[in-house]
Amino acid sequence: MISVAIDGPAGAGKSTIARAVAEKLGLLYIDTGALYRSIGLAVLREGKDPAREEDTCGCLPGISLALRHENGAQQVYLNGENVSEKIRTPEVSMAASQVSAFPAVRAFLLEQQRDLARKNSVIMDGRDIGTVVLPFADVKIFLTASPEERARRRYLEQCGKGEEESYEEVLRKVIERDYNDSHRAAAPLKQAEDAVLADTTGLDFAEAAALVEQIILDRAGGQLAGEGARE
Ligand code: DC
Repeated sequence: MISVAIDGPAGAGKSTIARAVAEKLGLLYIDTGALYRSIGLAVLREGKDPAREEDTCGCLPGISLALRHENGAQQVYLNGENVSEKIRTPEVSMAASQVSAFPAVRAFLLEQQRDLARKNSVIMDGRDIGTVVLPFADVKIFLTASPEERARRRYLEQCGKGEEESYEEVLRKVIERDYNDSHRAAAPLKQAEDAVLADTTGLDFAEAAALVEQIILDRAGGQLAGEGARE
């Protein structure tokens, strides 16, 4: 089994890059943000405030989450319902960032994430994978890009979906989410000491994916070859 941890701020391209590299190297891609998003969605659906610890923690006993891979894509189930699409709204993004600050939420998800890495060779992306969830990961990458570049990418993506937020508004939210994610007391976003920094500012998708793939091959190419992974 090998494990690759990819952490970094929102919009750095972690999920698209990790998904593509996982497929190329024959690893299972795990997007842990989907778990936090599903908890955010569950709290909103209960009519509770995801920014309030009592509200969020009160919802946890009623939440059961499962990640499954169907036709190569990760699907997330909340109490048996596939919510993979419903967790991708701006409202759920903010709720996810809020609930992820609570230690009880992080503890609730910890074993589930570790279990996936015990049973599979994975590329796991999140905020605290290299620091907390998989401190002994074979490869740790901290993937980032400037806030302006990340906001520009998100803005273009949203324009493609017909959403009407201005670039300035998107940039403001990127900065706010960065601040929330890196200043919370519980498992804040930070680069693990033994992580390789990959800055994708100015790189296109193919260049960024090639950079990440090269880091993995440099650090764990031998192990991958041993597992019979595809080149
Ligand atoms: O990666 P994402 O945007 O889907 O993550 C949604 C939120 O969940 C994000 O604001 C930070 C939080 N998160 C976290 O705290 N730890 C993780 N391992 C993954 C996500």
